[in-house]
Amino acid sequence: MLKRIQLSQLRVGMFIKDMEFATQRDAARFRPFLLSKGDDVRRLTSGHVRSVVIDVTKGVDVAETAQGIDKASFEADLLAIFSGREISRARKSIQDVEPHLRHVLDDARLNAGFADDAASAAVERIMLETLDNAGALIAVTKLKEKDETTFLHSLAVSALMIAFGRGLGHKEDDVRVLGLGGLVHDLGKMAVPGEILGKSGKLTAEEMDLVRAHPQKGFEMVAKTGTAPTEVLDICRFHHERYDGGGYPHRLSGKKIPYVARVAAICDVYEALTTIRPYKRAYSQSEAINLMMNSPGHFDQPLLSAFISKMIVSDALY
Ligand SMILES: [Fe+2]
Repeated sequence: MLKRIQLSQLRVGMFIKDMEFATQRDAARFRPFLLSKGDDVRRLTSGHVRSVVIDVTKGVDVAETAQGIDKASFEADLLAIFSGREISRARKSIQDVEPHLRHVLDDARLNAGFADDAASAAVERIMLETLDNAGALIAVTKLKEKDETTFLHSLAVSALMIAFGRGLGHKEDDVRVLGLGGLVHDLGKMAVPGEILGKSGKLTAEEMDLVRAHPQKGFEMVAKTGTAPTEVLDICRFHHERYDGGGYPHRLSGKKIPYVARVAAICDVYEALTTIRPYKRAYSQSEAINLMMNSPGHFDQPLLSAFISKMIVSDALY
């Protein structure tokens, strides 16, 4: 398969099938070749080449490189799947959600509180957008700059839970509860210092304890108002439990983990695996699913199978 890429995406290991040159003379001399040395990359990027076509069947793909993908190729990928209108609509809905969700996150961080009205307003907007544009909405949230990570992860998990809930045939009132749970599942992370959450190296035991306290902290924050349904509290408290009892904080196993938390665990992990950060590539959809299928004991298997059939095989997600 051939792909036209930008010069900034060139990496050692790519098979260069074609190039667009500034002059006809250079074009006439061109022969396909494997980019085997860093010097070749530098030569191409500093020369008269305008763009490059790679053959991913004979060399490294853009997404397989350690540098990850840049914004331009992310946009190109989106446009290959969705119309410009679907993408703009999804982005507009994120803008609409943003003030409400930022309010929820700020209230948790500054006051350890739960802004329930703002959370409900955010969920209503996500529910509306996911009715017929869930794929585009979830796709545009994949690329997360550093300061948008929590915001977009919360929004995307909410959208995934809403879409999955509908796929499972739940009533809209129950879907709304799943969406609210997805939105606030990590609210307890607002109590964890930012330096720890953003730390790139290994966490110390104390730091790990602080991170692992976020399900309980989130539960306490959301419980304060007395307005949140039990299912939402369960999602906060139990979304890191594993089906085999190896999760945290309560090491619950099997059906002792509330159903909604088992749904949340699948959506949360899928969203995290497929997230693209500027410095690292994401797992592709099939890699993420493979990894989840091959994590014995982590998830409720029938639910994971339902996620795959309702969300992946049915092309609800890309
Ligand atoms: Fe979490």
